[in-house]
Amino acid sequence: MVKTDVFIEKAINEIQERAKGKKVVIALSGGVDSSVCAVLAKRAIGVNLVPIYVDTGLMRKGETERIKTVFHDFHPIIVDGSHEFFTALSGITDPEKKRMVIGEIFIRIFEREAKKSKAEFLLQGTIYPDRIESEGGIKSHHNVGGMPIDIDFKGIIEPIQDLYKDEVREVARTLGLPPEISDRMPFPGPGLAVRVLGDVTEEKIRIVREANHIAEEELINQYNPWQCFAALLGLGTGVKGDNRIHGWIVALRAVNSRDGMTADPVPVPFDHLCKIGQRITSEIPEVSRVVYDISPKPPATIEYE
Ligand code: XMP
Repeated sequence: MVKTDVFIEKAINEIQERAKGKKVVIALSGGVDSSVCAVLAKRAIGVNLVPIYVDTGLMRKGETERIKTVFHDFHPIIVDGSHEFFTALSGITDPEKKRMVIGEIFIRIFEREAKKSKAEFLLQGTIYPDRIESEGGIKSHHNVGGMPIDIDFKGIIEPIQDLYKDEVREVARTLGLPPEISDRMPFPGPGLAVRVLGDVTEEKIRIVREANHIAEEELINQYNPWQCFAALLGLGTGVKGDNRIHGWIVALRAVNSRDGMTADPVPVPFDHLCKIGQRITSEIPEVSRVVYDISPKPPATIEYE
């Protein structure tokens, strides 16, 4: 990448040129990519920027409240799309289909909101690895390959589409964003939907959200992994009191990586893993088994779907 401040100036100029005098909606997710884009766009076009945060119902614990606080000055429009997402995802088990469905609903919500605010452009935080993986047919990122063809926008602006994640973080720091944002670990666009194997229900999302929260609390500060999370693998047998029950199997994953293209498992000490497992099964009664994933990428991917 060219020098960070040169990149910033160029990106701001390009946004100004493309969106001259027009309103632009931005999909604010709270991650480093969309936050960097929001700051660049705010500097470029000021009040013509319309930030929209969609609560898909598939977000991490406390995320919507966090957005309201952290991006207070951006006055984001908060849209509760959870009902729409859960309805559309009902019965869908194929991971790519999930991504397509989520991408489709996302864009339709944005079109609706854009019409209300008379915005003509959509600004997205797509980064280089998203494009590579979508173009290479590995998976369709919901903001790239999962995008419906007939998008009702005059244009899409993707200011950081040539950057890797670590470069985006550097830009974030240079823009003065706090470490809470610049160092925030990646979270997939389709959210917790790809952390539930098979079909998505509100109940499964509630369980994986709680497990994910515990995984983050236990692992982030102690090991500073590139990414960590919990996923819901399926039902297995367990015992509660004298009874054999069906309980959920939760997988914990913590990896180190440079850009998500390859990754290695974090060697979390066994004692700590047991403690996390105990926390999860006692705080979430529906879970009876916790496993730790020791797979590197490749051959595994970071997410489960
Ligand atoms: P995988 O699972 O492919 O993940 O090894 C590599 C990185 O990409 C994130 N990821 C996604 N991000 N939309 C996104 O915006 C997606 O559909 C998606 N799938 C995976 C994943 O969390 C990891 O950081």
